[in-house]
Amino acid sequence: MKVLVTGGSGYIGSHTVQELLNDGFEVIVFDNFSSGNKDLWVGGELIQGDLRDESSIREVFQKFQIDAVIHFASLIQAGESYVNPQKYYQHNLLTSLNLFQCMLENDVKHLVFSSSAAVYGLPQQIPVPEIHPINPFNPYGQTKSFTEKILQDYDRAYGLKFTSLRYFNAAGADPEGRLGELHEPETHLLPNLLLYLLGVKDHFDLFGMDFPTPDGTAIRDYIHVTDLAKAHLSALKRMFTHPHSEFINLGANKGYSVLDIIKKAEQVTGEKVHFRKKPQRKGDVPVLLASNAKAKNLLSWNPRYSDIHTIIQTAWNWHQKRA
Ligand SMILES: NC(=O)c1ccc[n+]([C@@H]2O[C@H](COP(=O)([O-])OP(=O)(O)OC[C@H]3O[C@@H](n4cnc5c(N)ncnc54)[C@H](O)[C@@H]3O)[C@@H](O)[C@H]2O)c1
Repeated sequence: MKVLVTGGSGYIGSHTVQELLNDGFEVIVFDNFSSGNKDLWVGGELIQGDLRDESSIREVFQKFQIDAVIHFASLIQAGESYVNPQKYYQHNLLTSLNLFQCMLENDVKHLVFSSSAAVYGLPQQIPVPEIHPINPFNPYGQTKSFTEKILQDYDRAYGLKFTSLRYFNAAGADPEGRLGELHEPETHLLPNLLLYLLGVKDHFDLFGMDFPTPDGTAIRDYIHVTDLAKAHLSALKRMFTHPHSEFINLGANKGYSVLDIIKKAEQVTGEKVHFRKKPQRKGDVPVLLASNAKAKNLLSWNPRYSDIHTIIQTAWNWHQKRA
């Protein structure tokens, strides 16, 4: 089976390509390398192209007999989207529309979509189930929510089946050490902390110590990137036997505060963290925690690497190697 992976040389995409290849899928990676990296290309056909250019993605569908698509390509910085919403709406919606158009033209009816916990906005209940109201508070989350709505209409009207995977906080690195997180600029907590401990960054900022949580810092649900990648495989395979569209959370259903993460990182690395106290960032919620019962049930998914020690250790191994 041939799978087109947009954004397949990014962080989560590359880990998923590795899982697909190990499982015997043929893979075509389509990426413009705007935030992806050729070092994260692990195999399959690599095509450099931009999804904003409909003709370049159309050529891929004409050249290869594609059976299914996994769509990672996206702008991903929630904070930036708040300041520059036009950039996010134009990019994330246009790229998805172009891709779905080519899928329909070529009768490709199976899609796994990278959505986000950002679609929920401020949680009204913890852990957050998939039936929670959708109320994103930043344009990045809006683009994910709009894309989900487009997909629902395309399913109803054209029979395009999708699984929208709503990730919580992706973290960690390939346990074999071949792949890891390489964002520039890096906005995620763990890589920033580890890059600071390696001396690559000269400071580490802690945003908000006055959240209504036991230690005052924000609590998040960290899910290992290899567990995420494996869930994509299960979702893809399931769609061919169960042709129903689904929204599925991917999280560990376990929360860690920023101070917890700092303590654990100190244990793993043996280094001491001296952080700078900064005010809360706009749009950061106190607690975000996934209900993952649906993923466990429908995808027979059991996160194997998502204990916090393994997440930090694999990420530390990767960043040490890169440094
Ligand atoms: N990292 C997380 O914690 C997280 C959480 C929730 C959702 N997500 C979603 O998961 C997906 C992957 O995230 P990631 O962390 O791997 O990001 P990433 O930036 O590492 O990967 C995105 C990839 O898409 C490519 N890309 C971007 N625009 C493109 C375009 N116009 N044409 C072709 N390729 C393009 C980039 O070059 C990159 O390789 C994104 O859709 C993101 O919104 C990520």
